[in-house]
Amino acid sequence: MCFVLIMTVKILPILLTLWTGVCPQRPREIYVKEGEMVALYCPRPRGYDHGDAKLIWTSYTTQDMDLTNNVSSAEQRQMGILVHGRSLVILNASVNYRGNYSCTQGNASTWFRLTVLTPQSREYEKMTQYPITCYTQETCTLHCPDVNRPAPNIPNITSNGIIWHKEGESLPKNSYFSSVEESDHGVYTCTRSYLCYGQIYNMTFTMVLDVQPKEKPGKDAAITEPQNNHVFHVDLGSPKVIDCKAVMYSDFDEVFWLSGKSLVETDISLPVFYNFTRENNDGELKMTASLVFKKVSEEDLSKNYTCKLQSVSEHSSFVTINLAQKSSFSSLSLALGIVLVVVVIVVAVVLYMKLKMDIAVFLRRTLCCYPSTSDGKSYDAFLVCYKSNTDVGLHEDDRKEKRECFGREDLTC
Ligand SMILES: *[C@@H]1O[C@H](CO)[C@@H](O)[C@H](O)[C@H]1NC(C)=O
Ligand SMILES: *[C@@H]1O[C@H](CO)[C@@H](O)[C@H](O)[C@H]1NC(C)=O
Ligand SMILES: *[C@@H]1O[C@H](CO)[C@@H](O)[C@H](O)[C@H]1NC(C)=O
Ligand SMILES: *[C@@H]1O[C@H](CO)[C@@H](O)[C@H](O)[C@H]1NC(C)=O
Ligand SMILES: *[C@@H]1O[C@H](CO)[C@@H](O)[C@H](O)[C@H]1NC(C)=O
Ligand SMILES: *[C@@H]1O[C@H](CO)[C@@H](O)[C@H](O)[C@H]1NC(C)=O
Ligand SMILES: *[C@@H]1O[C@H](CO)[C@@H](O)[C@H](O)[C@H]1NC(C)=O
Ligand SMILES: *[C@@H]1O[C@H](CO)[C@@H](O)[C@H](O)[C@H]1NC(C)=O
Repeated sequence: MCFVLIMTVKILPILLTLWTGVCPQRPREIYVKEGEMVALYCPRPRGYDHGDAKLIWTSYTTQDMDLTNNVSSAEQRQMGILVHGRSLVILNASVNYRGNYSCTQGNASTWFRLTVLTPQSREYEKMTQYPITCYTQETCTLHCPDVNRPAPNIPNITSNGIIWHKEGESLPKNSYFSSVEESDHGVYTCTRSYLCYGQIYNMTFTMVLDVQPKEKPGKDAAITEPQNNHVFHVDLGSPKVIDCKAVMYSDFDEVFWLSGKSLVETDISLPVFYNFTRENNDGELKMTASLVFKKVSEEDLSKNYTCKLQSVSEHSSFVTINLAQKSSFSSLSLALGIVLVVVVIVVAVVLYMKLKMDIAVFLRRTLCCYPSTSDGKSYDAFLVCYKSNTDVGLHEDDRKEKRECFGREDLTC
């Protein structure tokens, strides 16, 4: 009989719990540093509207305690806690406060597990330090974490704002850098402080600021050759290799060839295939994809070939090329023609120099029209001899006389 009663007493709360639906679910993990303030906030139950159902805070620490109904505000103050609406505030956390808490409204309840961290705690650094990375010469803002702080509407608690300190410096710091420098790196602490019953209670968070050199501007992968719409002149029946070269910055970037809309294979047994090489130059990848025609056919000339660069960083880019048959008047024959013309000109000039006189005479004979001399002959040149060395020049009279004698002055018309 007694045994049954004890069992009933032990089982009853469990049955009651199951019956009311207040089943202990996964508790919310709350961490607080020893000597600091922490606030638990009871979330509004979703779905069912509990209306005016009273919200009850219960602590399961050293002893189970209904904090809402059985602890007066004077007692709360003595215990170093403050219950207001959905908030339960622990003003100065110590190991005595660690344990489970619950808030219940109607048949819905939320569980919390409070862990009080001392500097010796295993999770101390992990749970209290927040890493942040900024880049040199850029703006950088430190945000004080907004966790487990008292709701702003609680009477008797007023916020005194946030103060930033840098480890190793006594003066408060700004949490905003318009242009952060590498020397700004370090450990920063933000302190949220609250005034309650004439006492200051703090919540502190540590930010570890890492300042990295400015990130390199992102480079874009690009095809360097051939040019888009380039036409390659080929001989039918002869082999042809067309290289597509690209520069890229990721191992996942790819260059390949398309024939029309279908992929060209890399199978070297096919009449048309492509092969490729990749070389890595300190992060800059150079890739060459060669489109190989074993024997260019008539059909190949009618197709569009596209070299495509598929890049993870950018949209894909591509170049399209075509093949065309070399015309009969090829560049070779054009070069030969130019050489021929030059040779002809050179020969003509040489001949002219050699046969200048003959040509002049020929031209005079055929084209010139002047009266023949008195003897009925025409002369190519006249030879004038002087009698002595002293007779340096002819007098004007002599010249006149000679002109009359020869009948004409010179060879030209
Ligand atoms: C809580 O009770 C209401 C009505 O009493 C019910 O509709 C709802 O499903 C219950 N919620 C849970 C979680 O049991
Ligand atoms: C918090 O408690 C510790 C030890 O119980 C005490 O030394 C400290 O002064 C208290 N802090 C405040 C703000 O009351
Ligand atoms: C209320 O508090 C008193 C003493 O402070 C305690 O004896 C009693 O068991 C508590 N009742 C509940 C329901 O917590
Ligand atoms: C808190 O609740 C968990 C289960 O959610 C339980 O394992 C643990 O023993 C409880 N701790 C205390 C101090 O009651
Ligand atoms: C605020 O403090 C006053 C006086 O100490 C007290 O009467 C009141 O109940 C307190 N309010 C809360 C929400 O604790
Ligand atoms: C709270 O923080 C302020 C500013 O950092 C400091 O002056 C004060 O001593 C701190 N109080 C406690 C109890 O830690
Ligand atoms: C691809 O193969 C052809 C013919 O075998 C060769 O000429 C070319 O150099 C190769 N290209 C590359 C990038 O390996
Ligand atoms: C090749 O491309 C041109 C221009 O995009 C298009 O007009 C032509 O129809 C294409 N030819 C083939 C065979 O796909």
